[in-house]
Amino acid sequence: MVSVGQLRDAEEQVARQLQQAGWTITLPPPNTAGYDFEASKAREVIAVQVKSHKTPVKVPQVERFLDFFDLPISRRFTRGLLVSLSGFTHNALSYFSNVNSNRVRLAVVKEGTVHWIRFDDKQTAPDSDQLVYVGVFTCKGGVGKTTISAHLAGAIALSGYNVAIIDLDPQKNLTTLLGGGVLIPGAGKEPPRSVRVFRLDEWDDNQPPPGIKLVVCDCSPVFEENPVHIVEKFSYCIIPTTLNPLGLNKNGYVIKNTLREIRSVNKNAYVFVLINNYFKDEAHKAQVLKNQYKKYFSKLSEQEPRFQFIDPDNAAIRNSKQLFYWGYHIYSGEKPELAFTTIGGKCAPKADFLNLLDYLEEHSDISQFKTTDNLELEMY
Ligand SMILES: Nc1ncnc2c1ncn2[C@@H]1O[C@H](COP(=O)(O)OP(=O)(O)OP(=O)(O)O)[C@@H](O)[C@H]1O
Ligand SMILES: [Mg+2]
Repeated sequence: MVSVGQLRDAEEQVARQLQQAGWTITLPPPNTAGYDFEASKAREVIAVQVKSHKTPVKVPQVERFLDFFDLPISRRFTRGLLVSLSGFTHNALSYFSNVNSNRVRLAVVKEGTVHWIRFDDKQTAPDSDQLVYVGVFTCKGGVGKTTISAHLAGAIALSGYNVAIIDLDPQKNLTTLLGGGVLIPGAGKEPPRSVRVFRLDEWDDNQPPPGIKLVVCDCSPVFEENPVHIVEKFSYCIIPTTLNPLGLNKNGYVIKNTLREIRSVNKNAYVFVLINNYFKDEAHKAQVLKNQYKKYFSKLSEQEPRFQFIDPDNAAIRNSKQLFYWGYHIYSGEKPELAFTTIGGKCAPKADFLNLLDYLEEHSDISQFKTTDNLELEMY
C-alpha cells in the first residue's frame, strides 16, 4: 500500500478512507495538475481532487475539473471524483447536474466521512412568495443588457425557479428574441421551469403570475423611459461594461452616471458592475485594466457600500461564440432559445451566469435570494 503521508491533511483524510474501503491509492508524478491522487480497484481508475476551501466550491472549480476530463491525459481514468470538505454552492450543483457528466462525481465530507452526492433525487428548490427584482441597466447602448437579462433569467430557471423578464426597452429586442419565453427542462425528476417575457403593459406588480421567484428587467438605456414604480423595486441592479482600453474612461464615466440615476429613484439596491465580453486568456491585460477601474471607483465604493465592481476573477461573462450568435434563430426560423444548451453539455455562458447568481447571493443580505440544498448522499 502506498503511503498517503505525503499528501496534504485534507487529501490524506480522503485517501485514507478510500484505502480502508479497498481502493489502492497512487500519488501522481510531481507537478501534476488536475487531480491530487488516483484511486484504483478492479477495473476502476479514479482521479480524485480534494478541495478544502473555507467556502463552498463554486462553479468555476467544477468547470475546471470537468475540463480536465476532456484532456487526452485524463483518458486513462474511468472516472473522476471531486471531493469538497466545505460543500458546493447551490449553483455549482446546478451546473454539474445540468452538464450531466457520466464520468465525474461529486462528494462531500460529512462528520469525517466521504459521501458521494446523488443527483437523481435532487430536492426541488424551496418556493418563495417574495418576488425579487433585478434590473439590468446602463445608459450606454450595446454592452450586453439584453444578452445578460435573458441568460441571467435562464440561469435562474436552471437553478430551479420560474422567472419573468420585463422588456422595458422600446427596441423590444428581448421580445423579438424570445417571444413569450422559453421552457427550461428540469434536472432529473424536477419539473421544467419557465422563463416568461412580459411587456410592461402585461405586467401587474400587484398580481404577478404565481410561482415566480425572480423578475429580471431589461431596461431602456434612456433612464427616464424606465418606470419609477419598477426601478424602485430593484433589489439588485447589474451594470454591464467591458474591459477594453479605449472604452475604459468613457465607461467609467457612464457607470458613475448610471449609478447616480439609479440612486435618484432607488437608494437601497445593490449595484454591481459586471464585466461582459471578458477574455479569460488575457489575464495579465485584464489585471491591469481592472485595476484602473478599481482605482476609478474606489472613492465611490467607500461612500456607497452597496455599489460594487465585481472583480472578473470572481465573476464575469466571458466572450463566447454562443452569446455572439445568440439570436441567429430569428433568421434561421428556428424556435426561440437561449445561448446555452439547457440539457447536458459544458458551456461557458451557462457556467458564468450560474456563477454570477452565486456571487450576487454571497455579496448581499437579501434573504429571499438565498438558496438551500438538501443533498441526497450515499456511501461510496
Ligand atoms: N459575452 C459576449 N460574448 C460575445 N458576444 C456578446 C457577448 N455579450 C453580448 N454580445 C453581443 O453583443 C451585441 C450587443 O449585445 P446586447 O444586444 O445584449 O446589448 P444591449 O446593451 O442590450 O444593446 P442595446 O443598447 O441595443 O439594447 C450582441 O450582438 C451580442 O450578441
Ligand atoms: Mg438591449
